[in-house]
Amino acid sequence: MGWRRNRKTAAESEAIEVHTQAQEAAATAVDPAKPLLVVEGVERTFQTGGQPLHVLKGIHMELLPRQLVMLRGRSGSGKTTLLNMIGGLDQPSKGTIFFHGMPFHDMSDDQRTKVRRKEIGFIFQAYALMPLLSAYENVELSLRMAGVPGGEWKARVEHCLELVGLAKRMHHRPFELSGGEQQRVAIAKSIAHRPSLLLADEPTAELDSQMAAQIMSVFQTIIRTEQVTICMTTHDPTILEVADHVYEMVDGKFI
Ligand SMILES: Nc1ncnc2c1ncn2[C@@H]1O[C@H](COP(=O)(O)OP(=O)(O)OP(=O)(O)O)[C@@H](O)[C@H]1O
Ligand SMILES: [Mg+2]
Repeated sequence: MGWRRNRKTAAESEAIEVHTQAQEAAATAVDPAKPLLVVEGVERTFQTGGQPLHVLKGIHMELLPRQLVMLRGRSGSGKTTLLNMIGGLDQPSKGTIFFHGMPFHDMSDDQRTKVRRKEIGFIFQAYALMPLLSAYENVELSLRMAGVPGGEWKARVEHCLELVGLAKRMHHRPFELSGGEQQRVAIAKSIAHRPSLLLADEPTAELDSQMAAQIMSVFQTIIRTEQVTICMTTHDPTILEVADHVYEMVDGKFI
């Protein structure tokens, strides 16, 4: 939890500066045939101890606007490693990643962080909500961090919570919500700043199949209404059915 808190503090201080750029990017017209993200020949090698560990071994992929794309593969196959790179959290050892034409493989940490804060939303397996804040306040926090003017918060927070079907639970804190409800707050939080790309690492792993299906239906709704592209990892074969495209990863490569 500690590192997340630190990141948020840093995020707040930078928030105002990036907001204008965010609005400009959001205003750009979306061409449905033009990829939002292009990954080519991406490799990732970790240096741990003596031996280099080759985790990604030549990944090619594309994300088109408003697609729901899934990455599946066994534990340790490299899904999270790839997702981190797509989200600009990490950089490839080799290969290129263009996000909206910007070379993530070539940009500094600061540059990628700025793009990430306005253009990308993240959802993790275990919700990542602030425990003492209500659902409303959790979503509001992400708007504050993205530098959205205060006057816009209320309407946007309410809109996002309605979108995920939680209007009636707005003032509940995480411990007063079910797992599926908490994950829906996390989704509202991740889309509040109007990212063009939403990345979700095993977002349904801790949920039963009915709640998982609810989350997938929320994803389909936000793709339609918020014009977002979603790339997620999953182990769940029943969920794969709703994907526009499934990339199957085996040992650091797609098959
Ligand atoms: N920072 C790191 N340093 C060294 N090795 C790493 C690092 N991050 C990941 N790895 C290794 O890379 C491999 C792939 O890890 P990754 O987390 O991408 O797998 P995954 O497909 O997401 O698995 P899971 O389904 O269990 O989440 C693992 O063997 C892991 O130990
Ligand atoms: Mg993983």
